[in-house]
Amino acid sequence: MRIFKNDDGHMLIGGARATDIALEYGTPVYVTDEDAVRENYRAVYRAFSQHMPTRIHYACKANTNLAILRILEQEGSCIDAVSIGEVEACLRAGFTPQRILYTGVNVSTPELEALAGRGVPINVDSLSELERLAEITTKLPISFRVNPEVGAGYHEKVVTGARSTKFGVPKNQIIEAYSRAIDLGFHPVGLHAHIGAGVQVVEPFTRVTDVLVSIAQELEEKLGLDLEFIDIGGGIGIPYRCEEQPMDLEHLAEEVTRRIKENTSAKIVALEPGRYIVADSTVLLTTVVNLKDTPDKKYAGVDAGFNTLVRPAFYGSYHHIDVANKFGQPGSLVYDVVGPICETGDHIGKERLLPPLEEGDLIAVYDAGAYGFSMSSQYNMRPKCCEVLVQQGNTCLIREKETVDDLLRHDRIPSRLMI
Ligand SMILES: Cc1ncc(COP(=O)(O)O)c(C=O)c1O
Repeated sequence: MRIFKNDDGHMLIGGARATDIALEYGTPVYVTDEDAVRENYRAVYRAFSQHMPTRIHYACKANTNLAILRILEQEGSCIDAVSIGEVEACLRAGFTPQRILYTGVNVSTPELEALAGRGVPINVDSLSELERLAEITTKLPISFRVNPEVGAGYHEKVVTGARSTKFGVPKNQIIEAYSRAIDLGFHPVGLHAHIGAGVQVVEPFTRVTDVLVSIAQELEEKLGLDLEFIDIGGGIGIPYRCEEQPMDLEHLAEEVTRRIKENTSAKIVALEPGRYIVADSTVLLTTVVNLKDTPDKKYAGVDAGFNTLVRPAFYGSYHHIDVANKFGQPGSLVYDVVGPICETGDHIGKERLLPPLEEGDLIAVYDAGAYGFSMSSQYNMRPKCCEVLVQQGNTCLIREKETVDDLLRHDRIPSRLMI
């Protein structure tokens, strides 16, 4: 967990006071420290590239803000994209198609046509997708996502590599898939798997690397195919709780690259971290708007709900919470921090020991940069909040707050209902 500086009882984010940011931009607001994004990217790249040529495909589903994409484009990152919308965002942020790898699931033919039109390499998820792509083009670089039968993750909803999931070409069909691709006229360049999300230990990554290495060896022996890259997917976890340890990147990189170098002729190791790069770069600031004591609990009602940050309600995820304008004060009362959405499941944090709260206090929700804004919604007709970037004390708006007009823009009332 990132440590934030304390300026006379005020939390500093990227050198700016959280309270000043809230005053200038309103709340709720996602605040991203640019230097943190760059640091995280560099840490992963450094760990792997000291062993072998490395491509980091930032999994942009974690955070698709164009400014964040620009920062990562400047850093030299590549992209893991899962929809034509993500591809479009990355192209607009300055990525060339060759730096994007599209990994979809249940991909429609119109989406394949759009990808082919833009020249984006495709990581094929099924034999049906392969056949349909061949009808459009065989000139794109392709790879395959295998279902490695190795799953891991912090919640059953995010385990993607287990045999029973919908993802990837089944392991027992993967050689046939490459063989069919070659027969169709493709030149497959890579092999990919993704085990799941929020993985805090090295072991599942070494297990999936072993599976990928053994498939790569079979491809070399049976089809004479030398792969350009082996992609171990994303899923590197972060410590959301104070007592958790960060992933040992050096150990992870050493174990993965050694297996690939010693046993295959693949030239590049690729990986697709999303959460690791952006999660701890961003704090969600939200104001206490209503305090309520009930016979059972003290509720701190804030202006961010699961429309703003869905992870606690959807996955039961923990995000550390502090009071930005009482920073460093010891906790003495226990609160449930809850939002304005009309559902009992709408909470940001449960049973949190905080300093005594007053209405108007500013709550800081940590590690909100991954799957925070990107999974937010307009449920209850609440416009999405704004996003702000901080760099060494200077702030700028990177996404405007939506308006109710924005929400209603696409609705249509048939004329017969207007009579
Ligand atoms: C194929 C693929 N790659 C990478 C990721 C990124 O995962 P994370 O943000 O946990 O690193 C995901 C997440 O769902 C994914 O599906």
